Amino acid sequence: MRKQIAAANWKMNLTYQQAEQLLDGILQEKVAPGPDQQVLFAVPFPYLVLAKSEVDEEQGYAIAAQNCSDKVNGAYTGETSVEMLQSVGIRYCVLGHSERREYFSESNELLARKIDLCLEYGIQPLFCCGEALQVRESGQEAAYVQKQLEDSLFHLDDEQIRSVIIAYEPIWAIGTGKTASAQQAQDMHAHIRSVLAQKWGKDTADSISILYGGSVKANNAAELFTCPDVDGGLVGGASLVAQDFVEIIKALKS
Ligand code: 13P
Repeated sequence: MRKQIAAANWKMNLTYQQAEQLLDGILQEKVAPGPDQQVLFAVPFPYLVLAKSEVDEEQGYAIAAQNCSDKVNGAYTGETSVEMLQSVGIRYCVLGHSERREYFSESNELLARKIDLCLEYGIQPLFCCGEALQVRESGQEAAYVQKQLEDSLFHLDDEQIRSVIIAYEPIWAIGTGKTASAQQAQDMHAHIRSVLAQKWGKDTADSISILYGGSVKANNAAELFTCPDVDGGLVGGASLVAQDFVEIIKALKS
């Protein structure tokens, strides 16, 4: 079975002390992910090393960055390179979150470069895609998401795409409390998988984890994760509450 993943996206939240407390609170529940399950915490840059040292001994838990530079190194004040992430042992990086696309003007083309850099440095990208409300209301969501995939991922070879994790996050569901229905999530995930299958073949498409993100909560995670093409979730708000995120981990398919 492809990996079932519960990924926390802390975004720009929590002080160092709060972050430590939250991670401790989750780890002390001692939920043991199965061999096909993975728990990820996408934490702010200053906490990467601390968070990594906390989960290093825990089977099935790992830390992700929330972004990286599209430049290798050099005079780019304020940027963080994939080489830096690699050097502190980070193996995952969220890319193309809709907040980065919207507030920091990240384009599909820029994201293609970041994807390449991550893969070159052995970092698995969690590539986010998803449409705004207006796009969904006009019935264009399938074509819109397909173009995001084509523009940022279609240059990859079979081995490379197998290292990518995809997160479908409809923008209208992020932070709004308005979750996509299980049927809406399943329909889009099946579409994404069929796009991947057309490009790389069914075996490859079936090996790629596709997470759902957008108001995943302790009380709706199980229903969403039961869908055949939903391989877990990328969770914002509910990942900031230890008990809620623990319940979401427990809702993963096993
Ligand atoms: P919420 O879970 O707060 O809706 O955020 C989703 C998200 O953006 C995860 O990356």
